[in-house]
Amino acid sequence: MGELGFEPRIVALCCHYCAYAAADLAGALRLQYPDSIHVVKIPCTGDLDVRDVLAAFESGADGVMIAGCMEGDCHYQTGNLRALKRVERTQQVLTEAGVGGERIRMYHLSSAMGGRWAEVAREMDAHIRQLGPSPLRPVGGASAGES
Ligand code: FES
Repeated sequence: MGELGFEPRIVALCCHYCAYAAADLAGALRLQYPDSIHVVKIPCTGDLDVRDVLAAFESGADGVMIAGCMEGDCHYQTGNLRALKRVERTQQVLTEAGVGGERIRMYHLSSAMGGRWAEVAREMDAHIRQLGPSPLRPVGGASAGES
């Protein structure tokens, strides 16, 4: 259930080639997407490290979205398929830790999908608002995506 006055913090780990380019395109086209989304560029979702995702939650993220190339289009061949398995494993870890595996989602986008980027960003924002704050969110501490 959503919480009144809750402003989510969502870290979006985006592959340089596709999802990051799609987010960039959305910005260039002035397509609106929520301020809760903090885009972080990574070379490929195949580089995803479960520890980095857990660290994002520990530093105050309420949700994490992993955004990579379309299936079959990863520039490192199967990076996004490896990422999908790691996301599933991370979901299990988060569920066992009581944080909730549903706080992490993976999306596939091409660099031309600026509109789709804005759509999935809004979808993720709504999903995390519905879940409410992460139980790991530090009270009054620094937030994910801020320095
Ligand atoms: Fe985009 Fe691998 S290069 S997911």
